[in-house]
Amino acid sequence: MAPLLLSMVGLLLLTASGAAARPVTVNSVKYVVTNEALPTLGGKRFESEVGTDFTVKVLRNATAFAWKVFRQSPNERKQDVDVINLFVRVVPGIAFTVGNNITIGDDYVEKVPSVRVSITETYFHEVAHVWQPFGEGQPIGLIEGIADYVVLKAGLGTWAKPGKGTRWDQGYDATALFLDYCASFRSTFVADLIRLMPVKYSDSYFEQLLGKTVDQLWADYKAKYGDGQ
Ligand SMILES: *[C@@H]1O[C@H](CO)[C@@H](O)[C@H](O)[C@H]1NC(C)=O
Ligand SMILES: *[C@@H]1O[C@H](CO)[C@@H](O)[C@H](O)[C@H]1NC(C)=O
Repeated sequence: MAPLLLSMVGLLLLTASGAAARPVTVNSVKYVVTNEALPTLGGKRFESEVGTDFTVKVLRNATAFAWKVFRQSPNERKQDVDVINLFVRVVPGIAFTVGNNITIGDDYVEKVPSVRVSITETYFHEVAHVWQPFGEGQPIGLIEGIADYVVLKAGLGTWAKPGKGTRWDQGYDATALFLDYCASFRSTFVADLIRLMPVKYSDSYFEQLLGKTVDQLWADYKAKYGDGQ
């Protein structure tokens, strides 16, 4: 009950202050930014230091960039996504994405240093989730690794050295760096991998694309880079 109440308060304030969501359409994708956290410090900081215009520009750039990494033309992209909604909400954590809805946590916006720099990275990661396929059986670590791979290729964020991690599907930066190693043998590797899994995921796709099992690739990678210290 409490979260619903909070977000209703947020919506009321939003309407009262006239900061209603203003949709912007680019490449047939519409972007709608809604700050439902206005009563909080994070919600206020979003208005004063991030803003809707900046957010739409970055989301739009992130979409174009994810399509490039995934080698999806506007015609090949997920056709059921014609809008990306971004909400700033009173929720714990940094951000999460469900379908075409991205939620950013107020506490993160309030406390993160250099909010525009950090949130740009977060937007690229979350927008990648909107456009990536979720083949059945895909490890969550691979889903997160692919989203971070888009951030890596965009030249955003600060990165550990290659070799980080104890499992290939550990997720986030560890998996992104491993995917980058895989892409050193086949530059279109990540795009090819996701193209194989609109319905179902299998570890055998690594062997199909690179001629080695994912476990062998991981062993080679660790032998080459150690633990990335
Ligand atoms: C969006 O991308 C363009 C072209 O790469 C760049 O010039 C611009 O600064 C980007 N905008 C933001 C807000 O990051
Ligand atoms: C996304 O948000 C909209 C607006 O709140 C809602 O109608 C829709 O069901 C949400 N979609 C998903 C996949 O959660």
